[in-house]
Amino acid sequence: MIPSQCILRAFTRISPSKYIRDTAFRSYPSRFSSCINQYRNADSDRIIKLRNVVPFCTDRQSSVTAQVVSEARSLSASTTCANDRTLDQIYTKNGLNVKPLVVERLKGHEKDEEVVNGDDKSVNRDGFEGVKSNDLEEEAWRLLRDSVVTYCDSPVGTVAAKDPTDTMPSNYDQVFIRDFVPSALAFLLKGESEIVRNFLLHTLQLQSWEKTVDCYSPGQGLMPASFKVRTLPLEEDKFEEVLDPDFGEAAIGRVAPVDSGLWWIILLRAYGKITGDYSLQERIDVQTGIKMIANLCLADGFDMFPTLLVTDGSCMIDRRMGIHGHPLEIQALFYSALRSSREMITVNDSSKNIIKTISNRLSALSFHIRENYWVDKNKINEIYRYKTEEYSMDATNKFNIYPEQVSPWLMDWVPESPDSGFLIGNLQPAHMDFRFFTLGNLWSIISSLGTPKQNQAILNLIEEKWNDLVGHMPLKICYPALESSEWHIITGSDPKNTPWSYHNGGSWPTLLWQFTLACIKMGRSELAEKAVTMAEKRLQADRWPEYYDTRDGKFIGKQSRLYQTWTIAGFLTSKQLLQNPEIASSLFWEEDLELLESCVCVLTKSGRKKCSRAAAKSQILI
Ligand code: GLC
Repeated sequence: MIPSQCILRAFTRISPSKYIRDTAFRSYPSRFSSCINQYRNADSDRIIKLRNVVPFCTDRQSSVTAQVVSEARSLSASTTCANDRTLDQIYTKNGLNVKPLVVERLKGHEKDEEVVNGDDKSVNRDGFEGVKSNDLEEEAWRLLRDSVVTYCDSPVGTVAAKDPTDTMPSNYDQVFIRDFVPSALAFLLKGESEIVRNFLLHTLQLQSWEKTVDCYSPGQGLMPASFKVRTLPLEEDKFEEVLDPDFGEAAIGRVAPVDSGLWWIILLRAYGKITGDYSLQERIDVQTGIKMIANLCLADGFDMFPTLLVTDGSCMIDRRMGIHGHPLEIQALFYSALRSSREMITVNDSSKNIIKTISNRLSALSFHIRENYWVDKNKINEIYRYKTEEYSMDATNKFNIYPEQVSPWLMDWVPESPDSGFLIGNLQPAHMDFRFFTLGNLWSIISSLGTPKQNQAILNLIEEKWNDLVGHMPLKICYPALESSEWHIITGSDPKNTPWSYHNGGSWPTLLWQFTLACIKMGRSELAEKAVTMAEKRLQADRWPEYYDTRDGKFIGKQSRLYQTWTIAGFLTSKQLLQNPEIASSLFWEEDLELLESCVCVLTKSGRKKCSRAAAKSQILI
């Protein structure tokens, strides 16, 4: 049964000192969005015990302090909590900033037609419909549609995995932000944008609005790792649906999902590019959401580097794997999200500063990564001969890397050719993590975080090391695996991350769509086709696993979920991108000369000084 309207309840996580005064918040200071519905659900009793929810229409004061919020305040206000309006509306309550309060299902597919056909800025989609899909793709589409989650009868996302035989889905029955990205692209590329629009707007409502540092609460602007649509019983036969976010407070290891907000911004840009509907990103609540994520990432800390400092497990690798500090994956997504934000933030007096800050950070970040994360044979030889303990501004070995870190595997593995190389996994004082992390390297190509030459060299390396990085199933999440005492110490003896399994050198088919995008960008589609052909021989027969194990990806992963949605969606997106490379081009970024010109600083003998235009430009050539 379909509810006639959905009343959204936006709850802000509040600190104990605040929620103690309000008994309604005592049992669990959480935030939900909810809608009323008319039928019961089996697990509703359990849920009501877990959480106390409070209707939004209370006089509770919000304590949001962000500067960006002032924009939302200036909107026209309505205090109505249930109204016959659409998801496009924004309200403020009692002059306070709040997320959109009242939503209603989009009616039919009117919106889809409007956004797909209605804007001349949209990408040319001619030829899409003519593409014949084979049985395999048909099954993949059926499974993808089957994984769709609805809220108030509107599609809002896809569950992480839907294996009908799995009785213990853990949190794989939730909608993960990062996992939904390939689903979103598959739908967008097929001309179905409603689910993506709903996802973007609903997750925006779940975004954390209150800055707290205690009680494991998230910082302002953080996007959840995942959310679940739960049903709560009301009186009589009624129930309400609530969107219940997980910011990492329930996740294994309690890690904050730093990548979620970055993916959200990247997807928002993709939505605009593919549908031509730029009105979504122009909405004031959406603009505020972008700025909140950007502000959270750009906030000053104790760090000396332009890279983002994060804990272990804050991204796709969401368990302890020794990637705390400045992991490449986060930096590449951060760069992509900042480039997206720079395109999307509406320029006006109040946004001038943040746009400038973003541009400066982009310049510094690419300079830092290009200079310090890049390795090829010559660079490794240089590190191998490094002097250490150099105290001065003109040190060559700036991070005091001890040459002993250049381990034998690396010396054997790095290609002879100067045209092959890669960006290392992490860089910290006296520490270079030389492991090859695929997602970070691919997004460096896609976003032009690397120079054009570096980007080409990364693909050369993948081609040369095909057996190691692709093997029987594209692609390895990282190479090589941590073994023996390294595995003990770095993973904490994690039985799921044993050598060549899961995050520790397992092979993840979802990386395929990102590889495809990178290959198309660099004019190397044949490499992507080779990988897709290999994947399609096994994925269906193997029941679309989450990951594969062993050195060459021969076995279905030990604890791998089956019918994993981002495996399915990643495959479909790869196919669509290869069939429509012109659309793919709207999803990546070329080198931005303006960013290079404004390169903010570089350490030289004379200390901190402005980069010269020539010095910055010379980076294009390395
Ligand atoms: C695993 C992955 C993570 C993914 C989640 C749901 O925890 O490491 O990246 O989002 O499963 O598929």
